[in-house]
Amino acid sequence: MAKLGVIEGDGVGPEVIREALGVLKFVAESEGLEIAIVPFDLGAKRFHRTGEVLPDGERDALLKLDAILLGAVGDPTVPPGVLEKGLLLKLRFDFHQYINLRPVRLYPGVETPIRGKGPADIDFVVVRENNEDLYVGAGGFTRKGTSEEVAIQTSINTRVGVERCVRYAFELARTRASERAFAGLARSAVDQGKRGRTTLVAKTNVLTYAHDLWMRTFNEVAVDYPEIEADYQHVDACCMRMIVSPERFDVIATTNMFGDIITDIGAVLQGGMGLAASGNLNPDRTAPSMFEPVHGSAPDIAGKGIANPIAAILSIAMMLDHLGSTAAAKRVREAVAAVLAAGAPRTPDLGGTASTATVGRAVLDQLKKGTR
Ligand code: NAD
Ligand code: IPM
Ligand code: MN
Repeated sequence: MAKLGVIEGDGVGPEVIREALGVLKFVAESEGLEIAIVPFDLGAKRFHRTGEVLPDGERDALLKLDAILLGAVGDPTVPPGVLEKGLLLKLRFDFHQYINLRPVRLYPGVETPIRGKGPADIDFVVVRENNEDLYVGAGGFTRKGTSEEVAIQTSINTRVGVERCVRYAFELARTRASERAFAGLARSAVDQGKRGRTTLVAKTNVLTYAHDLWMRTFNEVAVDYPEIEADYQHVDACCMRMIVSPERFDVIATTNMFGDIITDIGAVLQGGMGLAASGNLNPDRTAPSMFEPVHGSAPDIAGKGIANPIAAILSIAMMLDHLGSTAAAKRVREAVAAVLAAGAPRTPDLGGTASTATVGRAVLDQLKKGTR
């Protein structure tokens, strides 16, 4: 019996999680997986009611579970950072979820805004370092509120933190290359000469301390993966190339801050924020990993029932993979692929008029149809 903690959170969070859980319940049942859902009332409403963000009791209860599913946190009525840092980042840090895995994959039938590019061109994974960098909250103010105010926010980069991220990325490139070889599907842009490519995305020309550490570590780890091309892109050029030649990317290893930024571009490449899934992974399994859409609480569309639930549903597939239920994960992805290929129903972000619930139901129906 796997225990799953669910934090619906704010804005569209509860709307997309409802559909994702519907899919999970069905696929778990039909695959004979026992999953117990443990709901957690955390987010803006709880904060307004009690002043609490993540009480120790709930943190400890979450720690005992097998995985966590999160909708989104953040609300215009709560000061910026209170929920994002106090809940989301705290869980990422406290539970040593040091890898944020963010696949960028264009499904057939979905339009990318990049002219002339299709599913064969947009298929890479961003391995975002998830425990360090500017996110750790090191810094402060002096003379706050005066004209001489100084604000400092320090980027922390450790050898251990960088190395485990870079190594994860090379391992992933190796796995992806052998899966392609097995399927006879070499990609000309990333399998030429070498098999697969890991790109370090950083800013070594300016951040000559922090990113010097990243570059040296990357080069040292690359020696253990001689068959994989070790590639480097400055982050600004990476943004440009994600648009102009997305087919050149296979696996990207990058810092927490850059990873945050480039994966919103990645979301757009694959059809928008409504489609991008992610996993905050603790690869050592010393604490639960947490799965969530890349998008936030989308206050501009919250409460309207029109948020796209597919990012949340694809996050369920990532969770099933992590829990070892690869057959169930595959079925969820295939059902999503079939709904997207059919062209309807679609939520407004994909040019349709369907509701969140209608799209969730379509994925569920597709799963049922696929049931032997
Ligand atoms: P956002 O991702 O919430 O929204 C950006 C745009 O994408 C909006 O126009 C929104 O309508 C659209 N969008 C997002 N999800 C969608 C979906 N499922 N279907 C269709 N359209 C969708 O980013 P934001 O507006 O910058 O942030 C809003 C709040 O969310 C802030 O408080 C922010 O801190 C928080 N946030 C939380 C997370 C998280 O919990 N992981 C991630 C990002 C932002
Ligand atoms: C994301 C979000 C978070 C981040 C925020 C809400 C803390 O933007 O998951 O991409 O910056 O990591
Ligand atoms: Mn983000």
